[in-house]
Amino acid sequence: MSAVLVLNGPNLGRLGRRQPEIYGSTTHDELAELCRSWGRDLGLEVEVRQTNHEGDMLDWLNAAADDGVPVVLNAAAWTHYSWAIFDACAQLTAPLVEVHISDPHQRPEEFRHTSVVTPYATEVVAGHGIDGYRMALEVLAGR
Ligand code: DQA
Repeated sequence: MSAVLVLNGPNLGRLGRRQPEIYGSTTHDELAELCRSWGRDLGLEVEVRQTNHEGDMLDWLNAAADDGVPVVLNAAAWTHYSWAIFDACAQLTAPLVEVHISDPHQRPEEFRHTSVVTPYATEVVAGHGIDGYRMALEVLAGR
């Protein structure tokens, strides 16, 4: 089975409790279990991580670049302003799929309408809720 990393950024650890009207009722633990199980069905060994610390995310992305591991990335708010995340995405050597639970482009806050990840993403999946992670894994599995 080929390895895939699912990396979630700040505040996503509170899924299920965080603005459920926007992000739904699935917790991060449940999301991680779903991703692993969707991955198994697709022949992917999925590891899911979440951090509120940008340095952790940069270390994980840099390691993925060195190891040639495909990444599903929900950089959360960093998506909209982190040039460090932009630079880290630029170095990835395997496909990157950008995921958002909500559709940032349809939300009222202007700051959500730009993404530093999109220039390096082979595909963007947004606005499909938790199911977007399944869709992203399908992209990486070539389905
Ligand atoms: C998000 C959208 C971002 O704008 C927001 O900052 C998040 C979550 C999403 O999954 O819909 O934290 O990435």
